[in-house]
Amino acid sequence: MNLFKQFIILLFQWISSTVQYSLMRVWEAFPALDNILTATPECKGLETSETQPEAWKTNEALRTYHLEDESATKVMVQTDTHAFYVDLERLSACSEYFRGVSQSRMRESSEGLIRLSHVPSSVFYNLLEFSFHQQFRVSGDELGDNIQVASYLLAEPFLSECLSVLTDVLTPDNCLSYLGLAGDIFCAKLRMTVFTYLSRNLLEQSHLTKGLSPEEMEELIRLRSQGDQRLCVLRKENLKSWADPETAPARHLFSLPRSEDGGDSSWCPISELPFRADKWCFTAVVLFNYLYIVGGYRQPIRRGWEFKMASFRYNPFTHTWVTTAPLIKHRRHFSAVACEGGIYAVGGWYLDSLVSPDSNTALYTAVERYDPWQDTWRFVSSLPLTDFQFTVSLSHDVPLATSLGHCVYVLGNIQRTGEKLLLQYNTTQDCWSELLPTLTRADADMPTLYFLGATDTLIVIGGNTSENVMTSFCPRTRQWGEIHTATKVALAGQGTVLEEQVLMPATEHSSVAQLDLLDLSLSLRSPLPIPAHYDAVFHLYF
Ligand SMILES: *[C@@H]1O[C@H](CO)[C@@H](O)[C@H](O)[C@H]1NC(C)=O
Ligand SMILES: *[C@@H]1O[C@H](CO)[C@@H](O)[C@H](O)[C@H]1NC(C)=O
Repeated sequence: MNLFKQFIILLFQWISSTVQYSLMRVWEAFPALDNILTATPECKGLETSETQPEAWKTNEALRTYHLEDESATKVMVQTDTHAFYVDLERLSACSEYFRGVSQSRMRESSEGLIRLSHVPSSVFYNLLEFSFHQQFRVSGDELGDNIQVASYLLAEPFLSECLSVLTDVLTPDNCLSYLGLAGDIFCAKLRMTVFTYLSRNLLEQSHLTKGLSPEEMEELIRLRSQGDQRLCVLRKENLKSWADPETAPARHLFSLPRSEDGGDSSWCPISELPFRADKWCFTAVVLFNYLYIVGGYRQPIRRGWEFKMASFRYNPFTHTWVTTAPLIKHRRHFSAVACEGGIYAVGGWYLDSLVSPDSNTALYTAVERYDPWQDTWRFVSSLPLTDFQFTVSLSHDVPLATSLGHCVYVLGNIQRTGEKLLLQYNTTQDCWSELLPTLTRADADMPTLYFLGATDTLIVIGGNTSENVMTSFCPRTRQWGEIHTATKVALAGQGTVLEEQVLMPATEHSSVAQLDLLDLSLSLRSPLPIPAHYDAVFHLYF
């Protein structure tokens, strides 16, 4: 034993300058590690291990990780309390740090010593058990220590395993301390794990992200759109009663998963609507990959029924609904669009007994903005509908609205003249302006408007009795694009546009029509699970 010790001391003196030199370089790269790793190492019990969880502390054989290969380079790794005997090549395969040591010609070829006296032995044991025996023995409260060492030793597979376990144990109480740790040890993957957690709960736990910079908030918002993009549908308005067999199934949000071969499979319900009522009227809008449904539903009062204003927010990552602030005005068939981190509710008419509109029905000119962080609605500048009126319609929300950049755009059919007028709302200035010229009947015979959306320009879809008509408007040059006609398909409700594809409920086919903006081809997606009446289609990522 003495001989062995002496040999080790000699050997150590011989190589220490070289080892220390390279360690110094690592220390320089990770200055913050110094205090963290030398802080009192915690040796917690390894409950997950079978019979004698700590037997390795007294049994050198259990700290020996040689493969059978005799020619392999074996090294002794001295951690804070225990030494481990390891096949260096095998270790190099799971840690960039050891690969660096093995390649840096430090002549450990005969028998080397690597001093990691700041690394807790229990953590190093966990690393070896995982790397050599595929046994992951780290419990939740030891993850921090293990992630530090994994990150320091650049042990990617072990780090990934720690982080995937961490994903399941992150809570509002511990996530900020892990974020702090990520900063201290410069571990980008740990930071990303915590950021992903924070982004999935962005609005639910907004108190946690108060300290983040605007750039970091943008990153969180961006992270919410990472996942599978799914087409979703819900019935915007139901006027049927409980007695109608359609009502119960219609009270669901459906999504259309892609099948293995990339085609459509069939719609499946992913969540039930969060209120008990047979009659409702909502507008759907997606903000930060949360679905908001804004509107109201019918509920009994002492003598009869009344429409209760209500709004809800759905998080597709957790499949949970929460109640959010209702609109100020009692609106029916209004448009809502997300723009510059808020939601704008525009137009609509009075929501009371769900009577059909007629020529005397007046559109609301009041515009409301929703702040998702404060959960409040407030009025902003009203629509400039002074010397004209937009016609109302039961096939879509009135007026149609969309957003592009920092502006909201609104499109309506002017009563009597039938001209199409676009209005632009600049969110920075809180001010509306008319975008002339209007589109006259001579330009396009389009008595009905179905859809307004935005790609890099505004997309307008409408129709007459024989054809669907499609055109575009460029707000920058203030020019209408070419008028295209397409096969007549009755479109109703709320559509969406993504990657040059307009998707819109097609009532006659009880399906979703997909119009390709590049070649104007029209196709139908899988039949809807419930007959189409007045539905909203949109995309969510989850
Ligand atoms: C909106 O208003 C801001 C601030 O006045 C201005 O810089 C911007 O150009 C306006 N946007 C448009 C599209 O006119
Ligand atoms: C429908 O609109 C197109 C495009 O403006 C026009 O060419 C066509 O004549 C219209 N059809 C009817 C029946 O109005």
